[in-house]
Amino acid sequence: MSKNLDQIENSSHILVLGMGGTIAGLAPNPEGKPSSYRAGELAVETLLAKIQEAIPGDLKVVSQQLANIDSRDLGEDLLTLLANTVKDLLGNPAVQGIVITHGTDTVEETGFFLSATCGKLAEKLGKRVILTGAMLPANAPQADGPLNLLDALKWAATAPENCPGGIFAVFAGKVCLARDLAKRHTSALNAPLMDAPSSPLGLINPGWMSRLRAVQAALGEDLPIPEGEWPWVEILTSHAGARPLVIELLINSGVQGIVLAGTGLGGLHEDWSHPLKQAAKKGVALVKTSRTGAGVLAEESEDALAATSLSAPRARIALQLALNAAKVDKSLTWQDFFARIAVLPEFR
Ligand code: SIN
Repeated sequence: MSKNLDQIENSSHILVLGMGGTIAGLAPNPEGKPSSYRAGELAVETLLAKIQEAIPGDLKVVSQQLANIDSRDLGEDLLTLLANTVKDLLGNPAVQGIVITHGTDTVEETGFFLSATCGKLAEKLGKRVILTGAMLPANAPQADGPLNLLDALKWAATAPENCPGGIFAVFAGKVCLARDLAKRHTSALNAPLMDAPSSPLGLINPGWMSRLRAVQAALGEDLPIPEGEWPWVEILTSHAGARPLVIELLINSGVQGIVLAGTGLGGLHEDWSHPLKQAAKKGVALVKTSRTGAGVLAEESEDALAATSLSAPRARIALQLALNAAKVDKSLTWQDFFARIAVLPEFR
């Protein structure tokens, strides 16, 4: 039976947080053009009502609408609200697990952010937090949202002895760590998990499970959730014809960090050398990643820290969290905090 959070639920249940996205989207012409739609139209309660019959009878489900947006418009204030809500819910003994319905466009950022701020807590408590969404709107004939939501509910309710607690994502019948999530295709139904090490839900493969445990063991403590304004960090991609002016403009506007998505092994345009040295001298935090989308970047340059295997959007969140943590706890540097969530051993 699905309820809204207005009705306090004291018995064991799964809490579903609605954030919006295509899973809650509606297309004006679903038969003819399902790819033309508005995200974030249906309430999370309605999404649950559509799968009511299929939810196992012993599973109690409660919902709460946090937002109903197209995730391309995701803001840092909403990320703060989401993480604080997840932390509170994890601490509630009646909450067995949490499912978050989210747009796929920026689920990469949210997945990494929740992993870095709430992952250890979820692991310690043996509870699962599952991100899910859809590539087709709710009224499309082949809508993928209902099955994804049902799978996510079942995975959230899995007994702790079958899977450790943590932050996961479920799409197209597969599960992955939320920190591995990234939308890698414009329209494929498995776009968010396309590149992520994952396992079929019904038949968890032992290799994936042992990797999951190794990643969790390598990760440090959760970083604090930023309150108020987050550190300002931008992403710049190196490319043919890259201009130094863009870096100068950012420095003069007060940017606190820049993620540099370099070519190949993180190469940056020679014309950026001088302004980047200026940026480092002025205390702007610099992190380097690769625009190729795969592989590891371990070599640090003079001024920039290597983001290992993190994509630019993940490295940006990691840098924001690290800058914030270094402000909260002055005994460590932002580089120390960055390493805690970004630098993992080779098994990745
Ligand atoms: C969104 O990210 O909110 C829209 C796209 C999607 O969910 O697939």
